[in-house]
Amino acid sequence: MKHIFKQGTNLSKSTLLMLHGTGGNETDLLAIAAHIDPEASVLSVRGNVSENGMPRFFKRLSEGIFDMEDLKFRTEELYNFIGQAAEEHGFDRTQVVAIGYSNGANIAANLLFTYTGALKGAILHHPMVPNRHTDLPDLANTPVFIAAGTNDPICPAEESIDLEKLLSNAGAEVELHWENFGHQLTMPEVEAAKNWYDKL
Ligand code: MLT
Repeated sequence: MKHIFKQGTNLSKSTLLMLHGTGGNETDLLAIAAHIDPEASVLSVRGNVSENGMPRFFKRLSEGIFDMEDLKFRTEELYNFIGQAAEEHGFDRTQVVAIGYSNGANIAANLLFTYTGALKGAILHHPMVPNRHTDLPDLANTPVFIAAGTNDPICPAEESIDLEKLLSNAGAEVELHWENFGHQLTMPEVEAAKNWYDKL
């Protein structure tokens, strides 16, 4: 997958897996990665799907309606890519923390919904429930931070509440943070995510 890898200055730190929103690319979230942990390695990936020229991580049938077959295929593709990138760039596969926004948060959530140990933890900005028809794996002790908008027209509040419940029921330790700025990725929620990350 097209990506940017930046070697961190402190190899005992996590590797931050950055996953952009629809229409974004692998450069979008680099400043956020540097803000969350300036010493960490960064693997920032571009989604392999193009929707009228806009990169995404999986196909959708319409707004908020996912192509479930493609979601499954692309989730496995991303999972395998993380393993290949770990070998190529020499980072620890078990120490990957995903930071995703919107479509990127949705595929990060689906990594959690599909595999035990895919991620050490995740920061999900404006995610949805990626799949309502699956049994989650054991996510015991997996920390997850969700930043949601009370008035987000693309990811309604119930999506975040349901996602929090599903992840918690699978054993994850979830913190749900609310803002009132619609679907935007805002500085206050990035600061809240950093406070959460600093306590990991
Ligand atoms: C999705 O398709 O993943 C969500 O609707 C969010 C987005 O528009 O990217």
